Amino acid sequence: MKLKKKVEALEPKGISYKKKVAMIKRVPTGISNFDAIIQGGLDKNSTNLVVGNSGAGKSIFATQFLMEGIKRGESCLYITFEEEKEEFFENMLEFGWDLEALEKKGAFVFLEYAPEKVRTMLEEGGGIIENIVLRKKITRVVIDSITSFELLFDSDIEKREASLSLFNILRKWNCTSLLTYEGNPFKGRASSRTVEFESDSIILLYFVRGKEERERYIEVLKMRGTKHSRQVYPVSIEKNGMVVGSEPYFGELEE
Ligand SMILES: Nc1ncnc2c1ncn2[C@@H]1O[C@H](COP(=O)(O)OP(=O)(O)O)[C@@H](O)[C@H]1O
Ligand SMILES: [Mg+2]
Repeated sequence: MKLKKKVEALEPKGISYKKKVAMIKRVPTGISNFDAIIQGGLDKNSTNLVVGNSGAGKSIFATQFLMEGIKRGESCLYITFEEEKEEFFENMLEFGWDLEALEKKGAFVFLEYAPEKVRTMLEEGGGIIENIVLRKKITRVVIDSITSFELLFDSDIEKREASLSLFNILRKWNCTSLLTYEGNPFKGRASSRTVEFESDSIILLYFVRGKEERERYIEVLKMRGTKHSRQVYPVSIEKNGMVVGSEPYFGELEE
């Protein structure tokens, strides 16, 4: 259906056209104040990259994005090559996110995947993971992180081809996906330019030395089809997850 028709068919009638477009096209991350700077959320069915050093908050960001989906009745998939399930569930429970219970209910799928298996997935053009996505009607996917995925491949050409296949599979699934990348947000971010280029958006998470302690910041580097803020915002990790400050940060960011 064309967007205009879809928008017109939306109930209730009282809501403005612009708001309805946002309801259809945007996928809220659930991160307070962040959705406000990206026109209400990520673009539907887009592939998004979250870049930051170790401890920057990538896994928390990604899980919060899935929790928001679950809140809206969606089914979500978390694929990881690194996180150990029990420990991960325990850490996330700190924020009140009971992934174990959600997994039992079928709303949340956790896949701990050996990187070699990903090779099979790429060769099969989706394989077992695709079956899960279709069967469970998954609409939000997280891959945490694709750094170790890239390490699987030796040459730049192999890395490029593997990344391209991965992005093609993700696009085919009609899911909004979020990939984390462990890297320095100040430098050439993803080691493979393909990952950066193919991603519809790049979100940078900074975890930098402040005067007294490390401070967290967030910045949207690119987001296709979105009039996003070009300012840097402070971030904090609170008892219910990540919170972005409502006012931008105008100071220097030092590596
Ligand atoms: N319950 C919590 N309250 C406040 N800060 C937390 C909490 N849990 C984790 N953190 C902070 O978040 C960091 C880990 O975030 P995480 O998303 O795992 O980072 P990344 O995936 O980028 O390595 C921890 O090092 C700690 O600083
Ligand atoms: Mg992590």
